[in-house]
Amino acid sequence: MLEKIAVLIKEIESFSPKSKDEIDDFRLKFLKKKGVVNSLFNDFKQLGDTEKKEAGKAINNLKKLVEEQVAEHTKSFVVEKEEVKIDLSRPVNLESLGSKHPISIVRNEIINIFASLGFYISEGPEIEDDWHNFSALNLPEEHPARDMQDTFFIQTNPDVLLRTHTSSVQVRHMEKNKPPIRTISPGRVYRNEAISSRAHCIFHQVEGLYIAEGVSFADLKQLLLYFAQEMFGEKTKIRLRPSFFPFTEPSAEVDIYWGLETESDHRITKGTGWLEILGCGMVDPAVLENCGIDSKKYSGYAFGMGIERIAMLKYGVDDLRLFFENDIRFLKQFSSL
Ligand code: PHE
Repeated sequence: MLEKIAVLIKEIESFSPKSKDEIDDFRLKFLKKKGVVNSLFNDFKQLGDTEKKEAGKAINNLKKLVEEQVAEHTKSFVVEKEEVKIDLSRPVNLESLGSKHPISIVRNEIINIFASLGFYISEGPEIEDDWHNFSALNLPEEHPARDMQDTFFIQTNPDVLLRTHTSSVQVRHMEKNKPPIRTISPGRVYRNEAISSRAHCIFHQVEGLYIAEGVSFADLKQLLLYFAQEMFGEKTKIRLRPSFFPFTEPSAEVDIYWGLETESDHRITKGTGWLEILGCGMVDPAVLENCGIDSKKYSGYAFGMGIERIAMLKYGVDDLRLFFENDIRFLKQFSSL
């Protein structure tokens, strides 16, 4: 009998199941009512007293071993199964990845171009007062040029408004810092305009300001040419048209040459081949003085552009509203950028 048990123990010890079913079969084989263990106990009853002592111990050992094997393998089997569930080698489902908003992409691109020229970022509040948005910028009360930027006022207090441009940030920056100043102010601005394919009551700007000794219009022109070529390609040509802004003198609007090859070129450039991208000029000395900067010692230039407009040109988007609707089918097209 002891020999029979020894053989069985070897079998139990070398048990290595490949599935949960094999563990069940193994358990039943040994532990069910008419299984191996009970049949050993039946044989045990026929033994003499001296043999019973050792055989009893051996059968109990065997039973314990079976139970241990079942418990052990069940455990490892469960762990193995969980590992299979988390398959780290499975490819990622790219469909569900988000993408940057085109306005963020273009804003970052503009920032990077100017950052490479030493411009740093300044920020300011979206809720402004009259001084920073208008008066300091040479737009006193009742000045007709205020109508160029229809304003949202907050409650009935005409001194509290949503900024209409980020020039207000530059006023704040000049008040607190001494030249040389070389900063850009990206941000959201608000104008009380009817929403259409070309205008929105909320949009984004990047405005730039450089103030130091001896800054000239030629510096501004060279900067804008560099910017246009970085943004739209190295062959891009620009032209400056005289314009008017209350805070710059002289002022200009900058166009890039778009071409007149296709029918759509004719349509979007109104037959001229040129497209406006930004406004600029030499900061009016009165503005410098308003902000506590000596206009006899320092001069500077400023420029401002709408990010939506640059993005529309860059990606051929013909309706500005698309940037605000966040239609996933529109946004998905920018996921590789
Ligand atoms: N602040 C002007 C606007 O929002 C843009 C601008 C900035 C023009 C600086 C000239 C110089 O329209």
